[in-house]
Amino acid sequence: MLDLAQRIVLCALLGSVYASCPPRCECSEAAHTVKCVSRDLRSVPTGIPGYTRNLFITGNQISRIGPESFKGLENVTNLSLSNNRISEVESNSFAGLRNLRSLDLSNNQLAVIHPEAFTVQNQSLRELNLSRALYNHSSVMDLASSLRWSSLGTLRGLDLSDNGLIYLPSRIFSHLTSLQRLQLSNNSLVSIHNSTLSGLERLEELDLTLNALKTVSEEGLQELDSLPDTTLLLLGENPFTCKCGIEPFALWLNRSQGRIRDAEDLMCAFPVSMRNTSMLAVGTLTLGCHQRNAGADIALQTSYVFLGIVLGFVGLIFLFVLYLNRKGIKKRIYDMRDACREVWEGYHYRFEIDSGPRLSQVSSSGDM
Ligand SMILES: *[C@@H]1O[C@H](CO)[C@@H](O)[C@H](O)[C@H]1NC(C)=O
Ligand SMILES: *[C@@H]1O[C@H](CO)[C@@H](O)[C@H](O)[C@H]1NC(C)=O
Ligand SMILES: *[C@@H]1O[C@H](CO)[C@@H](O)[C@H](O)[C@H]1NC(C)=O
Ligand SMILES: *[C@@H]1O[C@H](CO)[C@@H](O)[C@H](O)[C@H]1NC(C)=O
Ligand SMILES: *[C@@H]1O[C@H](CO)[C@@H](O)[C@H](O)[C@H]1NC(C)=O
Ligand SMILES: *[C@@H]1O[C@H](CO)[C@@H](O)[C@H](O)[C@H]1NC(C)=O
Ligand SMILES: *[C@@H]1O[C@H](CO)[C@@H](O)[C@H](O)[C@H]1NC(C)=O
Ligand SMILES: *[C@@H]1O[C@H](CO)[C@@H](O)[C@H](O)[C@H]1NC(C)=O
Ligand SMILES: *[C@@H]1O[C@H](CO)[C@@H](O)[C@H](O)[C@H]1NC(C)=O
Repeated sequence: MLDLAQRIVLCALLGSVYASCPPRCECSEAAHTVKCVSRDLRSVPTGIPGYTRNLFITGNQISRIGPESFKGLENVTNLSLSNNRISEVESNSFAGLRNLRSLDLSNNQLAVIHPEAFTVQNQSLRELNLSRALYNHSSVMDLASSLRWSSLGTLRGLDLSDNGLIYLPSRIFSHLTSLQRLQLSNNSLVSIHNSTLSGLERLEELDLTLNALKTVSEEGLQELDSLPDTTLLLLGENPFTCKCGIEPFALWLNRSQGRIRDAEDLMCAFPVSMRNTSMLAVGTLTLGCHQRNAGADIALQTSYVFLGIVLGFVGLIFLFVLYLNRKGIKKRIYDMRDACREVWEGYHYRFEIDSGPRLSQVSSSGDM
């Protein structure tokens, strides 16, 4: 009997330990949720119950995440680590979370991201939020290699907004072949190149609002055209500069209105005089600029042709005059030759006469 009582106590103890909640966290078994919010935690607490599906460890002071951080948490589907001070994520930190679907690392200071940082054993990850998560633009190379090596072929949504990105390394997204939503808003992107967006074969939405695009080059337009036809684009709040050279972009905008969700709202930002002009109207307005250029070219070409004709004509007349005067010219040339010969002979003669006394002088002085 005592034995049984002991066993019951032991079981109860074990049960309470099993169902326990780490200090400074709130656990709800019914909701499969654990929250450790704004509690000054410096590392991921141990003892998070195995039933946890939604895990929020937000607003703390965690600075590093490694493979030991999340052990035995196979049921976690949503993990938020936002608003910490995470500066380093090691490879395979989340690998054991084999049901992880949504990972939120927004509002951190990632400076070191190891190549397999986002690997999840079961390739179950669907959403990755890295909004305002990078320490500075320099982290983008680490980010590119981790997107390459973390087996994210099933990722659907990637949020890279608010990161101060200046450019995107070539082919940075090329392994995200299932990606449907890509947020790049509120960065400092100045251009799109021909392999910036390669590989995004399933993209449905690309948000480029609040960047530093003054225009989009023909190369960039080709790149945007290479996205699936159904991809919706957002391009608002960029400092579009409406001067000569922007027409291809403006015409492209007009042509692609159907897939640009905020097409109607796109305005010139510069020059100040055009600040309130719709980008869709720019095509026709600056066509003037295009025509003036073309007109100048044609005028220039015409003047060259005219100059050529005049010069040719002058040359012909010259030759004709020469031809008409051929006898006179011949005569004059003979005359000139004779004159020359006379002069030459005269000179020669004088030289011989002159050289006589000098020679005799030299010889006479030699005699002395
Ligand atoms: C995960 O959840 C399943 C079903 O709710 C449960 O049987 C299993 O024990 C849980 N895993 C852990 C490590 O607790
Ligand atoms: C978990 O993440 C999914 C997206 O994958 C989201 O739709 C859902 O609302 C999240 N659940 C919780 C409790 O945050
Ligand atoms: C792998 O992930 C899927 C959901 O993406 C889940 O249904 C399945 O149970 C997972 N497999 C294992 C072994 O955890
Ligand atoms: C990512 O996190 C930020 C800040 O926590 C939030 O505003 C944004 O909606 C999230 N992105 C997605 C796609 O859920
Ligand atoms: C980013 O921060 C690191 C470390 O402080 C620094 O060395 C690097 O120059 C910074 N990069 C940029 C683009 O500011
Ligand atoms: C853009 O991102 C910066 C941080 O990079 C943030 O301070 C600012 O509030 C963001 N702006 C908007 C409109 O979200
Ligand atoms: C990208 O464009 C440049 C010049 O516009 C060209 O030389 C290069 O071959 C292009 N690369 C690809 C992959 O299309
Ligand atoms: C822009 O145009 C709208 C009408 O189209 C006008 O109401 C608004 O005052 C204008 N804003 C500026 C800054 O010119
Ligand atoms: C935009 O394209 C339409 C044809 O799709 C054309 O009728 C219209 O004039 C164009 N607008 C401008 C401003 O170029």
